[in-house]
Amino acid sequence: MSNPSILILPGDGIGPEVMAQVTRIIDWYGEKRDLAFDVSTDLVGGAAYDAHGVPLHDDTMAKAMEVDAVLLGAVGGPKYDDLDFSVKPERGLLRLRKEMDLFSNLRPAQCFDALADFSSLKKELVAGLDIMIVRELTSGVYFGEPRGIFNEGNERVGINTQRYTESEIERAARSAFELAMVRNKKLCSMEKANVMESGILWREVVTRVHADYPEVELSHMYADNGAMQLVRAPKQFDVIVTDNLFGDILSDCAAMLTGSLGMLPSASLGAPMDNGRPRAMYEPVHGSAPDITGQAKANPIACILSFAMALRYSFAEGAEADRLEAAVESVLADGVRTADLLGEEGVTPVSTSEMGDAVLAALD
Ligand code: NAI
Ligand code: MG
Repeated sequence: MSNPSILILPGDGIGPEVMAQVTRIIDWYGEKRDLAFDVSTDLVGGAAYDAHGVPLHDDTMAKAMEVDAVLLGAVGGPKYDDLDFSVKPERGLLRLRKEMDLFSNLRPAQCFDALADFSSLKKELVAGLDIMIVRELTSGVYFGEPRGIFNEGNERVGINTQRYTESEIERAARSAFELAMVRNKKLCSMEKANVMESGILWREVVTRVHADYPEVELSHMYADNGAMQLVRAPKQFDVIVTDNLFGDILSDCAAMLTGSLGMLPSASLGAPMDNGRPRAMYEPVHGSAPDITGQAKANPIACILSFAMALRYSFAEGAEADRLEAAVESVLADGVRTADLLGEEGVTPVSTSEMGDAVLAALD
C-alpha cells in the first residue's frame, strides 16, 4: 500500500517559515513512528504568481484534488496589493476551497493552560477550554442571489441574500455530528430561527440529521445568545455548528478567547473521497505577516497544530495527533515562547526554528 499523500503549499511571507517546521515534524513521524507520508511541495498565492502569472497553476489544482490532504501556509503581501483582482494571491486560496468544495470549516478554540493569562477573559473561565466551531463555508449570505447595489427610486439599495438548501445544511450538520462522535458527543447548533426562515430550516434539518446520531446530545441556541454565552461561560460548549456568516463572527470571537493568532489552526473539509476520508485542506488562521517576514520571529505552532488536525481528520491517527498536541503543550508549559507570546517578565523569545526544535525534542 502506498503512503498517505500530502501536498504542501507554503505560500508567501511567513508561510514558508512556519511550514519548514511542519516539514521537520512530518519527517519525524516517518523516522520515529513509522508513519511515512508522500510529500510534494508546490506554489500558491504570490509565489505562484511570480512563477506562472497566476495565483494557482492548473497542475497544482489537479495535484490538490489527488492527495489525501493539502497543507497551506499563508498567501498575500504588500508586493501583490496592486495586482488585478483576478490574479490576487487570495484568489489561489479561494480556487482551492471552491474546487475542492470544502464546505465545512473547523476552527478549534483551545486554551493551553500555560497561555491562559493571555485571554481577555478571567483565567478560570478559559483554562482547559477546548471547543470546536464548525462553520458552513460555501453557501449562505456570502453567496446567495440576488446580490448587488441597485437603484430604487431616488436612492440605492444594497442586497445580500441568505440562502440555504436542505442538502447544504445537511452535509454541514453531518460533518459536525461526525466530529461530535469522535469528541465528547455534545453539539450545539446556532442560528436565528426566531427571525430568519433559513434559520427555521437549519434547525429542522439539524434535528432530522440528529436521528442518525442518537448518542450525541444536541442543543439549539440563537446565535446572538451564543455570542453572549461564548464570552460568559465558553466551557459549556464542545462542538458548535453554524452557518457561514454567524460562523465567521463566532469563530473569530471564540479564537480570541485563547490568545495569539500564532496559535490558531484550522481545517476545511469536503465530501468523502474514494478512501472514505474527506477531501481536506489544513492551514493556520493567520496570514502572511509581512511585518515580521524574514525575521525568524513567526510562531510555527498554528501551522504545527494544523498538521495535528490533518493527522486526526485525514489520516485517522488520533493518537498521533494527541501526541503532537501534547508536545506543543509541554513546550509551552516549559515557558518556551516566540515573540508573539511574550507577556511574562524576563522571558527571552525563541526563533521560529528554535520553537520547532523544542517541539521535536518534546516529541522525542
Ligand atoms: P496577519 O495574520 O498576516 O498578521 C496580523 C498580525 O499578527 C501581524 O502583526 C503579524 O505579525 C501577527 N502574526 C500573524 N501570524 C503570526 C505568527 N504565526 N507568529 C507571530 N505573529 C503573527 O494578517 P494581516 O496583517 O491582516 O495580513 C497580512 C497579509 O496576509 C495580507 O496580504 C492578507 O491578505 C494576508 N492574509 C492571508 C490569509 C491566508 O492566507 N489565509 C489570512 C489573513 C490574511
Ligand atoms: Mg473572519
